[in-house]
Amino acid sequence: MDTTIIERWKLCTCASFIGCIILVLCLNQSRNSANLSALQNPAISITSFNQFPTPSIEFSAASKLIVFRPKAVNHREDKCNIFDGEWVYDSRARPLYEGPQCPFLSDQVSCRRNGRSDINYEKWSWRAKGCEIPRFNATDMLERLRGKRVIIVGDSLNRNQWESLACLLYSAVPPSRAYIETRSSVYKVFRAKDYNCSVEFYWSPFLVQLDVKKENGTRVLRLDKLSGEARRWRGADIMVFNTGHWWAHQGKLRAWDLFQYKGKLVEEMEIESALDIAMKTWARWIRRKLDRNKTRVFFRSISPSHTGEQCYNETQPILDESDAASFPKSLTEIIEGTIKVMKSPVRYLNITNLSQYRRDAHPSIYARKQEERQQRKEFHPDCSHWCLPGLPDTWNGLLYASLVFDTSGHISDS
Ligand SMILES: *[C@@H]1O[C@H](CO)[C@@H](O)[C@H](O)[C@H]1NC(C)=O
Ligand SMILES: *[C@@H]1O[C@H](CO)[C@@H](O)[C@H](O)[C@H]1NC(C)=O
Ligand SMILES: *[C@@H]1O[C@H](CO)[C@@H](O)[C@H](O)[C@H]1NC(C)=O
Ligand SMILES: *[C@@H]1O[C@H](CO)[C@@H](O)[C@H](O)[C@H]1NC(C)=O
Ligand SMILES: *[C@@H]1O[C@H](CO)[C@@H](O)[C@H](O)[C@H]1NC(C)=O
Ligand SMILES: *[C@@H]1O[C@H](CO)[C@@H](O)[C@H](O)[C@H]1NC(C)=O
Ligand SMILES: *[C@@H]1O[C@H](CO)[C@@H](O)[C@H](O)[C@H]1NC(C)=O
Repeated sequence: MDTTIIERWKLCTCASFIGCIILVLCLNQSRNSANLSALQNPAISITSFNQFPTPSIEFSAASKLIVFRPKAVNHREDKCNIFDGEWVYDSRARPLYEGPQCPFLSDQVSCRRNGRSDINYEKWSWRAKGCEIPRFNATDMLERLRGKRVIIVGDSLNRNQWESLACLLYSAVPPSRAYIETRSSVYKVFRAKDYNCSVEFYWSPFLVQLDVKKENGTRVLRLDKLSGEARRWRGADIMVFNTGHWWAHQGKLRAWDLFQYKGKLVEEMEIESALDIAMKTWARWIRRKLDRNKTRVFFRSISPSHTGEQCYNETQPILDESDAASFPKSLTEIIEGTIKVMKSPVRYLNITNLSQYRRDAHPSIYARKQEERQQRKEFHPDCSHWCLPGLPDTWNGLLYASLVFDTSGHISDS
């Protein structure tokens, strides 16, 4: 008697459970068809993390579509392009560090602290097409950096990347074993005492030197002289450079009045020619001043901005590629052209394309504190830098992957 009741009870429970699952799957199904356009874009897919059907009851904007696509895991890809891949959404993903606990984050990128409440932008991860990108492991990265000096040089976008890398590594050491210096916006350093390693940032938006004439304040960009700080970069084990944005600045934003080249002051010159000379100056410095057996040099490609308020209120990556804005191609071509012909191998962190999709990941109006926003009714959304935690963590993940693949020889020099 008792047993039949239990049997029936079990059957009943089981039936309602199955009913629930069917209902949830049906709901997902109808949402799938509404969102198929996302599938047509090779670089975007919205996937459940473990790639098995987890009936999800969370219907946040980006988790509507669940795609099951088992992927061949390839750990021994010889020539894997880790920059060619797709963005994958996982509603359960957590950033690798907590923003509020990281002492390196400036107001400009502290989106959550400044009141941004939609946080789906933290839940996308980058997957390469041809191979599995190793998951960022801060302890392992610190081991690899033991006794080493990492130097990141460039504009505020490289500062953005430095802040990200410092936070990532800081999360793996006790706060008392970290040395931090962040007061200046032009030089910053994080040191992990137990690993005797340091990660420094030097602000140098042109890589070449910008002088201001004492007599009359004329600003002279010296195309054939590397930044005066360069002496301090010697002895680095890993260097990450970038340049680009400041060359494209026009009107009031333009930071120079004259160029200096071969001892002459030049007023008019095509930006492309100026950048080309500057890049060659940089390449010469790399060849002459760095020990190629010791220093691994990376160049991070241009970080795309979504200017003209194209990031305002955006909570999802670009799904339609025709929307993708882009940086002057001519400048990118000059940079890539210089790197291609260099004798000393330079690794190109080709993040332009993968970042282009992420209009949702800029600080926008959350580049300023709430009080400041309320005081000034009008201000420009920042569609150039990136929230942290956020996209630059992915760039550093790819830097980490390059180091991991490099020692095991899985990635070619190209
Ligand atoms: C991270 O790296 C450390 C040191 O190499 C290793 O002990 C640890 O297991 C790794 N963690 C994960 C999650 O792989
Ligand atoms: C720490 O690293 C530096 C290089 O960055 C090296 O010159 C120095 O000898 C190291 N110190 C110790 C105690 O290992
Ligand atoms: C500023 O001084 C430099 C010489 O130091 C000169 O070449 C330049 O023409 C001056 N500019 C102006 C606007 O007077
Ligand atoms: C770099 O390493 C190569 C091969 O190990 C060696 O022949 C060369 O002399 C080294 N160069 C320098 C500058 O140490
Ligand atoms: C931006 O989002 C806020 C909050 O969702 C909304 O009130 C506002 O109308 C939106 N503005 C624009 C221009 O879409
Ligand atoms: C960087 O990636 C873009 C597209 O993703 C590609 O067109 C370009 O050739 C790549 N640059 C280099 C130097 O590999
Ligand atoms: C990224 O690169 C792919 C392949 O080169 C191209 O089809 C796509 O349009 C690029 N996407 C963006 C946003 O530039």
